[in-house]
Amino acid sequence: MNMAEPRPKSAVPDAERRPVYQIDRMSKTYARNQLVALTDVALTLRKGEFVSVVGSSGCGKSTLLKIMAGLLPPTSGRVVLEGQPVTGPRADIGMMFQQATLLPWKTTVQNIVLPIEIREGRAAAKAALPRAMELLKLVGLGDFGHVYPGELSGGMAQRASICRMLISNPAVLLLDEPFSALDELTRDFMNMELQRICAEQQSTAFLVTHSLAEAVILSDRILVMKPRPGRIVEEIVIDLPRPRTLDMINTPLFGKIVGHIRDILGKEAFQ
Ligand SMILES: Nc1ncnc2c1ncn2[C@@H]1O[C@H](COP(=O)(O)OP(=O)(O)OP(=O)(O)O)[C@@H](O)[C@H]1O
Ligand SMILES: [Mg+2]
Repeated sequence: MNMAEPRPKSAVPDAERRPVYQIDRMSKTYARNQLVALTDVALTLRKGEFVSVVGSSGCGKSTLLKIMAGLLPPTSGRVVLEGQPVTGPRADIGMMFQQATLLPWKTTVQNIVLPIEIREGRAAAKAALPRAMELLKLVGLGDFGHVYPGELSGGMAQRASICRMLISNPAVLLLDEPFSALDELTRDFMNMELQRICAEQQSTAFLVTHSLAEAVILSDRILVMKPRPGRIVEEIVIDLPRPRTLDMINTPLFGKIVGHIRDILGKEAFQ
């Protein structure tokens, strides 16, 4: 479904952008309880695209994200990132969770280079410090590289974890409700920051969220999932112009899109 006029976003038509992530006929049954968590999932993420997934609790969103991250094997189907099947965690997959999970005994900048330290050792981590400082400036934390996480606010800690995700130049960003622990104003601000960073880095991003407004304000496309078994039932193209601004939330078109998604989600409760 197309909700509005074409947007002046990119000279390259969406359909011609390079596929980065491809999932085909993917299913997941948890062996322990034989629960069919996902069935026949197909999705393609193209370079620079921001895609969100929404759906009721237990419909399989986190399962999908974990499979995409290589943290969980699918039962069947094809899961391919940059032409290579995903068989485990990879450096070209960036992840962000609800909590920032920074190590309290390391400074902000040391936390940001930690994935490199774990994968490639101390020397490589040291070499990455200038890049980490650059990323901190990008998220407005230029003066906070050498403080400990205990001295950061929740929003600042999440910004630091954005840097930690970006330090390895991942091909795809997988976000599992990254700002849901923050207050509403900080969350709005972080969403605008995320949009700016994704535009600057030309990131390809996939977001799990419970907030329909958050999904609409950030996304090029929204996938709506239904449970039992978990599957994608509708794809909604969000043709609002970019950059998106918070005042768009109050427009009739925005309300119409949110209402449409709510209708789809509402129906499922009775099936
Ligand atoms: N490790 C597991 N073993 C067995 N069943 C599981 C496991 N993890 C999840 N499930 C089941 O799979 C289904 C999908 O769970 P999942 O966590 O993916 O849902 P979700 O959409 O992320 O929900 P929420 O919005 O509440 O986070 C649920 O029915 C859940 O009970
Ligand atoms: Mg979940």
